[in-house]
Amino acid sequence: MVLAGALDSLIAPGLDPLEMGAARVQVDDKRMINCRADLNQLVPFKYDWAWQKYLDGCANHWMPQEINMAKDVQLWRSAEGLSEDERRIVMRSLGYFSTADSLVANNLVLAIYRHITNPECRQYLLRQAFEEAIHTHAYQYCVESLGMDEGEVFNMYREVPAVANKAAWSLKHTHALSNPLFQTGTPEADQELLRNLIGFYAVTEGIFFYCGFTQILSMGRRNKMSGVSEQFQYILRDESMHLNFGIDVINQIKLENPHLWNREFQAEVRTMILEGTDLEIAYARDTMPRGVLGMSAAMMEEYLQFIANRRLAQLGLSEHFPGVKNPFPWMSEIMDLRKEKNFFETRVTEYQTGGALSWS
Ligand SMILES: [Fe+2]
Ligand SMILES: [Fe+2]
Repeated sequence: MVLAGALDSLIAPGLDPLEMGAARVQVDDKRMINCRADLNQLVPFKYDWAWQKYLDGCANHWMPQEINMAKDVQLWRSAEGLSEDERRIVMRSLGYFSTADSLVANNLVLAIYRHITNPECRQYLLRQAFEEAIHTHAYQYCVESLGMDEGEVFNMYREVPAVANKAAWSLKHTHALSNPLFQTGTPEADQELLRNLIGFYAVTEGIFFYCGFTQILSMGRRNKMSGVSEQFQYILRDESMHLNFGIDVINQIKLENPHLWNREFQAEVRTMILEGTDLEIAYARDTMPRGVLGMSAAMMEEYLQFIANRRLAQLGLSEHFPGVKNPFPWMSEIMDLRKEKNFFETRVTEYQTGGALSWS
């Protein structure tokens, strides 16, 4: 009996045996973690923001093959098309991202999903997981279109130290949760879940993506590798939403479980953000040994400090780098573009109407 009871407690939330005639789900029963309410009933919604982000993610649907890569192929193949420094940036970006989005996807489905006990948030996580698959597809599509050595690109995360150090840092924050015996419900375990969410949403997707995104988008602004750059613009739009969703989840868990967010833990979170910033600065120096595309490693360092301040503030912590400015204000413009005003307008419209079946 003890063993059966222990096994029962290992059933993942959402797969519990049916309880005939149990009380109906009330909105106040719903909680972000450690919730006992039935997770198979999407409504009534408690977290409208999570449902809205799911709808927004669906409205922004795109696929990598829609982007014309012909100009990129021509430029990549021509001997004098790009400088060595520019080629290094393209290779390193595809090297880091081709496996990073896979790490994020695996963390979502193998670590986070089981422990988020809210159906509207799970709905968004499922949408995000598909978007991560599309991103990995996009990087693979770029590598294939350009005829790159795929072995070199996909192995960079264990062959190039500046790339590997970031991937290893992310992986370090997924191990505890991916253990099938891990369960939330104690302050220590709940903090472990928060560490994972902060490690992935605030650092991996919120800091580790920013040097590469800025470099490739800067290339696109100069009319170089415009297809790769367009892929990255779509991905950046998705990633901004992943980041915002993650921050909302983390802050909601803090709100519902204030005992987890003690001074000691806050100090630990600050250290995580600063470790991530240091790794991204090291990546910037490795990928930009000289000035390139109107950027330098020193400018990127200031930008990453600006980003780190933003992440700390979003988590309710004080800024760490006083007075730093954003040397790339055009990055914020791209991220802040609203769907109906942005350069993807035609495609977004096609998806919103093209998905309907015609019975005529
Ligand atoms: Fe992604
Ligand atoms: Fe993401």
